[in-house]
Amino acid sequence: MDKSSPIGVFDSGYGGLTVFKSIVAKMPQYDYLYLGDNARAPYGNRSFETVHEYTLQCVQWFFEMGCPLVILACNTASAKALRTIQQQDLPGIDATKRVLGVIRPSAEVIGNYSKTRSIGVLGTKGTVTSGSYEIEINKFFPDIKVHSKGCPMWVPLIENGEYGSAGADYFVEKYLDELMAGAADIDTILLACTHYPLLMDKIRKFLPAHVQVVAQGGIVADSLSAYLAKHTEMAQRLTQAGIIRFFTTDDTVDFDRHGSTFFGRAVRSEMVHLK
Ligand code: DGL
Repeated sequence: MDKSSPIGVFDSGYGGLTVFKSIVAKMPQYDYLYLGDNARAPYGNRSFETVHEYTLQCVQWFFEMGCPLVILACNTASAKALRTIQQQDLPGIDATKRVLGVIRPSAEVIGNYSKTRSIGVLGTKGTVTSGSYEIEINKFFPDIKVHSKGCPMWVPLIENGEYGSAGADYFVEKYLDELMAGAADIDTILLACTHYPLLMDKIRKFLPAHVQVVAQGGIVADSLSAYLAKHTEMAQRLTQAGIIRFFTTDDTVDFDRHGSTFFGRAVRSEMVHLK
């Protein structure tokens, strides 16, 4: 019998691998399962109800696979499903399990990066319309002005392997110009979508040199490490054989090919059929 008790890391597709990479680099000792719901990605334009339904289904799969702790390495799922899962679903499923997201850890520190106190937040339409970043950042940094911009074409470009293409430049420049036109004093931009680090070079290319671009991987890894140091009862439940397994709800060949780019090393996935 498989007695492993891994940390679950979830994303709608490949994007969460950029965060997962930082988590594994910081805490290689734990066992992990990564699940990409590639068959139903992207989540970015979907309704609250749909994102909640899909995310909950994936969270339950992690629980069945033995994970006591699941990280939603997806801003859209964190914005649209996390609170309902934590407050309404978890108590009825298993109150000892935990599901954490990526918005709060990012909101807790992003204000420290800005001198002008004006920050740009780039995310999917779902993340931006939820208003979650404005609310969370202003809890920790009431003086910060948050300028959010939805970039609906970026995830499809990335999921389809077009992130390095000349065609992607058009949509990178377009959204950044629109963001900066509304707030020229922005000195810090948070990539509030775990897919976007794949566009980092292009994003930098179309921004003034003084604007810093912050990805979430390191922030989320530091926050998880601090969480486990504080919640020793959870840390003790996790097995530590350093075993990583990747799962996708869609084609494994595609996942392995794209996934290795996001993860930075070879990925060998297994297919999962969610019930
Ligand atoms: N990677 C997800 C995020 O951080 C979004 C991808 C999607 O639209 O499915 O929001």
